[in-house]
Amino acid sequence: MTQASPPRPGARRLYGRAKGHPLTARQQALVDGLGAALAWPDDAPADPAALLPGCAQYALEIGFGAAEHLIGQAQRHPGTGFIGIEPFLNGVAKALAGIEDHGLTNVRVKRADARDEIERMPDGAFDRIYLLFPDPWPKTRHAKRRFVQPDTARHLARLLRPGGLLRVATDVRAYADHALPILLETPGLQWRADGPDSWRDNPPDHIITRYQSKHLGDIEPVFMEFERV
Ligand SMILES: C[S@@+](CC[C@H](N)C(=O)[O-])C[C@H]1O[C@@H](n2cnc3c(N)ncnc32)[C@H](O)[C@@H]1O
Repeated sequence: MTQASPPRPGARRLYGRAKGHPLTARQQALVDGLGAALAWPDDAPADPAALLPGCAQYALEIGFGAAEHLIGQAQRHPGTGFIGIEPFLNGVAKALAGIEDHGLTNVRVKRADARDEIERMPDGAFDRIYLLFPDPWPKTRHAKRRFVQPDTARHLARLLRPGGLLRVATDVRAYADHALPILLETPGLQWRADGPDSWRDNPPDHIITRYQSKHLGDIEPVFMEFERV
């Protein structure tokens, strides 16, 4: 699959948008060039230490949207290798523009369904995993479409090294009510809440994206942080 291809057929059904406005000429060139160079093969294990050798730490961002958080964190932490996975072509194009604009060499991105990619990633590969404001699918009948499920949660726990951190944020009550019990029951994950309200503050190192600042949900954002034990 090239970076310009949609997530491959035969894989799981992807809910949500894979494409938006037509790409600008620059975005298309980035997708065809830099994007293809930064992605990795569908059938190869996606090991961040092989994709970005020599980094002190590795972080994974699932569903990075317009990439403000991914690019912002990569700028702040040049010694950390960032892997970003996003099926929405226009989001990938924005990430590539950010990588080029800031001359970043510590980011690899792929247009893909993260559910497929996390299955092929090695145990303990990451120090941090971010799942920020995943598509909420607030209706109960769509709960199976939500990214956090017992199976994906097990993979996220497996991918973290001991002491590593998983951050899941949402501003939709139905999502928090759905995700928190699953994450609490996932072996190897320990909730880091240190008080009833501690999950309501933006973490000090957080970067607010345009999506978050639109306040589309029905509650103030909550940040569920889990440590790999
Ligand atoms: C509501 S947006 C939030 C974007 C970004 N995280 C932010 O906070 O600004 C959710 C994102 O998750 C992406 N997404 C949905 N399903 C996904 C999947 N299976 N794997 C990876 N990303 C996914 C969507 O394409 C979308 O960009």
